[in-house]
Amino acid sequence: MGTLARVLFIPVICAVMGYYLYTPLPDGLRQKSRIQLFYAKHKISSLLISMGVKLGFGSGIELARRYQHYTMVSPLNDENITVTNTTFSGIPVMIFTPNTVSSKSPAIVYFHGGGWMFLSSGTKSHFTNNLYRKSQINVLNTYSPYIITSFSYRLSPEHPFPAAFDDCVTATVHVLQNGHKFGVDSDNVGVAGDSAGGNLAAAVALRLSDEKESRLPKLRFQIIIYSVLQAWDFKLPSYTHNEITLFPSSVMIKFILPYLGEVATDENIAVCLSNNHLTPALKKSKFTKFVDQSLLPPQFRRTPPKIDDVLNTTLAKRLETLIINPYAFPLMAKDLSRLPPAFVLTCQHDLTRDDALMYVERLRKAGIDVQHKHVTDAVHDFFLRAPNNDFTYDVHLETLSDLKVYANKYYK
Ligand SMILES: *[C@@H]1O[C@H](CO)[C@@H](O)[C@H](O)[C@H]1NC(C)=O
Ligand SMILES: *[C@@H]1O[C@H](CO)[C@@H](O)[C@H](O)[C@H]1NC(C)=O
Ligand SMILES: *[C@@H]1O[C@H](CO)[C@@H](O)[C@H](O)[C@H]1NC(C)=O
Repeated sequence: MGTLARVLFIPVICAVMGYYLYTPLPDGLRQKSRIQLFYAKHKISSLLISMGVKLGFGSGIELARRYQHYTMVSPLNDENITVTNTTFSGIPVMIFTPNTVSSKSPAIVYFHGGGWMFLSSGTKSHFTNNLYRKSQINVLNTYSPYIITSFSYRLSPEHPFPAAFDDCVTATVHVLQNGHKFGVDSDNVGVAGDSAGGNLAAAVALRLSDEKESRLPKLRFQIIIYSVLQAWDFKLPSYTHNEITLFPSSVMIKFILPYLGEVATDENIAVCLSNNHLTPALKKSKFTKFVDQSLLPPQFRRTPPKIDDVLNTTLAKRLETLIINPYAFPLMAKDLSRLPPAFVLTCQHDLTRDDALMYVERLRKAGIDVQHKHVTDAVHDFFLRAPNNDFTYDVHLETLSDLKVYANKYYK
């Protein structure tokens, strides 16, 4: 290579590598260099996916799903755990049964995250699989005494709301009605989920607390891990004062709109970012008090930034009933007083932080027993940061341990 070429080439390579290897991150994150590496991997896979789209290999969603499938390791049976694939009322489920459980064991019904669009029950790094692996990572040295069911609910955009919600309700009702057939004590069942899965867990808990479901055994608890619980206000501090530049609010809206059956065009995203996805009637309705900064602890409140209005009245009209549907967004429920006790985990550096902080406050006001854990030094998705043989992500393990203690406290 000639000198001139080298002089031009090397800085370009360095700049490109710098972009991929370095993402600006807030101070004080635990295991920051690891997060840096995760984000580098994310950027590189996003680049490959967008190249694949340009080359005509499929849509971005298809390719991202294929990539995830490729990097997924399905859990297998071992001396401690039996993993069973089956279906409950037609919904694919992976059941993790510790070999030591008694014939009537408590259970967790788990819903995976992935923006209602990605991943599945057996995803490599999710909660279920990690509980399954945890003795290998030698932190929680006994297997949990409960059975975990993890469902592959239908995903958007092919199946918008209420498909995923309906599947999760159907699957949970199946566990409550037929648990004895696979060793579950139906009086000792809780729901849990992370991110979109936490949204589904809260929605299922809400649905099952309705009067018409009163003949089913009551859920013992809901475990809600950094979850999106509203699509009302995209100017909340956690959305507008978010230091994780790789995941701006537009990313969340790219999941929310397809979940609601809408296309996330740049224009539609801009409408949402300026909160004009709400009709004027909604903006004046009683729902304004369900999502409001006064529900946040004072240290989290911020003046909303000025964002230029982008209007699309057709979109706002189409979203009008969905935005306030509490089974899509549990913070829109008027009455939370029949819900089971909750463990709510929030992360400081997370778009959905304020959703869950408000949920904590609203549950407490409704008289629900809430255990709230706020993690100041982690980012959204840490449940996806799987512990593996050469790496342990501390926050993840700490949370598994918390959840185990919590679940055991609420089982009878
Ligand atoms: C099964 O559990 C025991 C005791 O916790 C542990 O020592 C062993 O490594 C586990 N086996 C596997 C395959 O994880
Ligand atoms: C469960 O299904 C997955 C595919 O969805 C497969 O990879 C895995 O081996 C199955 N596990 C068992 C124990 O049959
Ligand atoms: C407004 O949103 C709807 C629904 O997404 C879309 O079909 C329409 O093209 C948008 N209108 C304008 C003017 O962009």
